[in-house]
Amino acid sequence: MPTRVFTGLKPTGSLQLGNYLGAIRPLLDLAADPGADVVVCVADLHALTVEHDPALLRARTRELATTLLACGLDPSARLFVQSTVPAHTELAHLLECTATYGEMTRMVQFKEKSAGSDSIRLSLLTYPALMAADILAHDTEVVPVGEDQRQHLELTTTLARRFNARYGETFVIPRGSTPPTTARLKDLRDPRSKMGKTGSDGAGVLFLLDDPDTVAAKVRRAVTDGEPSLAFDPDGRPGVANLATLLGALTGRSPEEALAGLRGAGALKSAVTEAVVAALDPVRCRYAELEADPAEVDRVLRAGRDAVAPGAVATTARAREAIGLLGVA
Ligand code: AMP
Ligand code: TRP
Repeated sequence: MPTRVFTGLKPTGSLQLGNYLGAIRPLLDLAADPGADVVVCVADLHALTVEHDPALLRARTRELATTLLACGLDPSARLFVQSTVPAHTELAHLLECTATYGEMTRMVQFKEKSAGSDSIRLSLLTYPALMAADILAHDTEVVPVGEDQRQHLELTTTLARRFNARYGETFVIPRGSTPPTTARLKDLRDPRSKMGKTGSDGAGVLFLLDDPDTVAAKVRRAVTDGEPSLAFDPDGRPGVANLATLLGALTGRSPEEALAGLRGAGALKSAVTEAVVAALDPVRCRYAELEADPAEVDRVLRAGRDAVAPGAVATTARAREAIGLLGVA
């Protein structure tokens, strides 16, 4: 039996290099194994958990799907839009009835995103149950995600085990797969915070569709420190460590190896710019081709939905029956 690999990405902004190194490249590496059976979802319902603009959400959903294909995701991998498979929301309700309020309020991401706001959407609290449903609906075994999603993944396995123990074997228990060094790429301007699609002004975020001049300008303005020599010291010298991690990941080396032979922050920044531009050039070119043919992207999304929906419906039917819903035919 092939290994079911599943991941999701939220269309809340343009994809950035943290997404690429934390989730997309690990996914593509797993997908290269002929024994892997890859399913990827554009998690549009998750994007509704924070303030949003309807037209922009639609545009970003298409952009995210197109960018994933431009990164090299094979169209034969099942890529689909979460909201087009309603089994996800149905299963999410059953999982909300398996989880507790305490578990949801303990999620670090909920605490961070809700802090200081007096009008948060209720779905921001319940979102991990929907993410668990995404994963469990597809009988997932491996979930490539960055570090920030590990707690949600642990909750998913807790809920799946609890459901199985209480109502009988229903769900496959998934495990996470997090890359060793790039699980949490940092913002170039604020190297103690995660690089993210939203939240900052974008000056320290390298987007996958940034052109070479933009990449060079952002890397030039990356925060480092005044020390003339280079060393990998994430706590003491987070800016240099982040650039070394980035360079290492893009050139297949450890951060320490990436620094060897480079003299000073200027040389490090030049090497980073070169590596990022080399990695992103093909993505940008392929994106331009795909963007010109939106019908092809629609076709991929439709085929993905049609391929995965029956399995998600079957898993949800198992869960409905196990939990005690009558299900009159
Ligand atoms: P999101 O953009 O929140 O939908 O995240 C999509 C995927 O990218 C998830 O697996 C995240 O863990 C991963 N990711 C997002 N930002 C970073 C980052 N700065 N470093 C590593 N992984 C990240
Ligand atoms: N919640 C994830 C994030 O914010 C995105 C996501 C949605 C996801 N569903 C998923 C990731 C299922 C892995 C598996 O990054």
